[in-house]
Amino acid sequence: MKKEDVTETQEEVFFPSPEIVEKALVKDYETLYRKSIENREQFWADEADKLDWFRKWDKVLDDSNKPFYQWYTGGKFNIVANAVDRHVKTWRRNKLALVWEGEPGDTKTYSYHALNREVCKFATVLKSMGVKKGEIVTIYMPQIPELPIAMLACAKLGAAHSVVYGGFSVEALATRIRDANSRVVITADGGYRRGKVVDLKGIVNEALIGAPTVEVCITIRRTGHAVAMESDRDFWFHDLMGLPIATTSCETEVMDAEDPLFILYTSGTTGQPKGLVHTHAGYAVYAATTLQYVFDLREEDRYWCTADPGWITGHSYLVYGPLLLGSTIMMYEGAPNHPYPNRWWQMIEKYGVTILYTSPTGIRGLMRFGEQWPKRHNLSWLRLLGSVGEPINPEAWRWYHRVIGGGRCPIMDTWWQTETGGFVITPLPITPLKPGSATRPFFGHEIAIVDDDGKELPVGQEGNLVLKAPWPGMARTIHGDPDRFKQTYWRQYEKQGWYKAGDSARKDKDGYFWVIGRTDDVIKVSGHRLGTAEIESALVSHPDVAEAAVIGLPHEVKGQAIYCFVILKHGKSGSKELEDKLKIHMDHQLGAIARPEKIDFLDTLPKTRSGKIMRRVLKARALGQDVGDISTLEE
Ligand code: WTA
Repeated sequence: MKKEDVTETQEEVFFPSPEIVEKALVKDYETLYRKSIENREQFWADEADKLDWFRKWDKVLDDSNKPFYQWYTGGKFNIVANAVDRHVKTWRRNKLALVWEGEPGDTKTYSYHALNREVCKFATVLKSMGVKKGEIVTIYMPQIPELPIAMLACAKLGAAHSVVYGGFSVEALATRIRDANSRVVITADGGYRRGKVVDLKGIVNEALIGAPTVEVCITIRRTGHAVAMESDRDFWFHDLMGLPIATTSCETEVMDAEDPLFILYTSGTTGQPKGLVHTHAGYAVYAATTLQYVFDLREEDRYWCTADPGWITGHSYLVYGPLLLGSTIMMYEGAPNHPYPNRWWQMIEKYGVTILYTSPTGIRGLMRFGEQWPKRHNLSWLRLLGSVGEPINPEAWRWYHRVIGGGRCPIMDTWWQTETGGFVITPLPITPLKPGSATRPFFGHEIAIVDDDGKELPVGQEGNLVLKAPWPGMARTIHGDPDRFKQTYWRQYEKQGWYKAGDSARKDKDGYFWVIGRTDDVIKVSGHRLGTAEIESALVSHPDVAEAAVIGLPHEVKGQAIYCFVILKHGKSGSKELEDKLKIHMDHQLGAIARPEKIDFLDTLPKTRSGKIMRRVLKARALGQDVGDISTLEE
């Protein structure tokens, strides 16, 4: 897009300053994009070449068993050899890997040397517990340094990790441990959130009653509050790390390129969360490449991704991506507005953060306190900003750009998913930006907006977002359910071989993509991905509830908020008191992130003749809109 085109249409476009263009890693998107499409495998081979391999691959892409694509087959690789081991062999040994601040204000820093030492020690501890290649270790922790250390220690040994977000509660955790069949769980006694202690170990203890496969639970002491430890199952992390067996050197396991690195559960249309499987090599190449090009990481950067490692953003762009690139990462344990709404801005100033990657909810949540809070701080170190998780409304975009970025920092609005492993639609620092658009495809991607039959839609028309070609960071399958993987993502456009993202979007005349939102029963609450079905089954598990339907409605800060419609069992009646009780029940089952905004008690739910709840009707009614075509409604 050229400047001249824009003045004509009066569109709001932000062009990069000459200084940004001059220093940019990629100055010409079009040329490199074209190359990456014309010779996709060569592009991904060149990128893979930038990492260390025990043995190089035989084949870049094996597509003989679609949609179960394989990348870098024959290659021998371990992500830890690249994220940690290779850095300690260079001057980076003395570079800061991690700068951490706890919510109460305590701090810790790790050089790459120290990170390697802790990872080795914890890996030897896990090894002594019998942890090995092929098993899945569940990690349930607050945002403390031991969380990435635990992830890396598992990966070093070749065990896959399954990080469950610390904001989830008993039933959500138990379901995920059961599905992963974990023998070992790593947790902490608790964490801090808004000055309060979250009793994680208590939640784990309850969850383990329903997860009998767990033989070992290792607990990090964070808060020091009293927790129940069962003698033969439970171990304190610090006890184990103090044992002579916890040595500072530990072999990094040689893995096949396609061996699983982690599974990460995400929500879909049914109540059972999907454990998406990501691999060592393809995922590493993708995380490193996308981060390098989009955030243009430089040796002197201090990079802060505010996401929790319990979500994919934390996996790819807090832990693995930046460590693969040998960067200095920032990590913060607690709430953005604790004890005051300047907490984030204060830390950006204090640590000299140069790149901030966060969510629209994070921005909106702090924006409402007014610009006097960031204005108190010197944010001049910042040079790039990022946004992820949900569409960013132009008002929040402009505030972020002007107040936080001082008008000089481009915003990388990155569209991607747990399934994609990394950025898919994203600007580069040189890309002219339109507030609210994630702009254009990343290298190697061909993206289209199509109708239900796969016909490409004209400019401006809303339709299904599809990815036409495979990429190294793509999820390989759903743990234990390859059929569901096929059904969910590949079935609808099987003939064409396209990946269906589950989002609706449109494309404008400049080839910019505008993502509108999910087309399935997934809602994004504060950028957190939740399934209506999982929330409904949590509601129905309450003894007074007969049936429930859940929808997402627009919310000023959270993007979307949870609205529940409940039919009570015979003889029960709805009241404010019961609504509160149900909310507490939801906190316990799923976690406070799934707490409903409102619960309405109804006598009937709108259903189709085949018995499917018509959430569309509930939504329209709640928004005071026309309910549309209801010819399939039961009555
Ligand atoms: C939404 C998070 C608009 C989208 C990385 C997607 C976005 C879902 C953006 C995946 C963005 C993510 N603009 N929408 N920049 N980024 N989404 O798996 O609906 O938690 O399908 O991955 O978030 O959510 P997930």
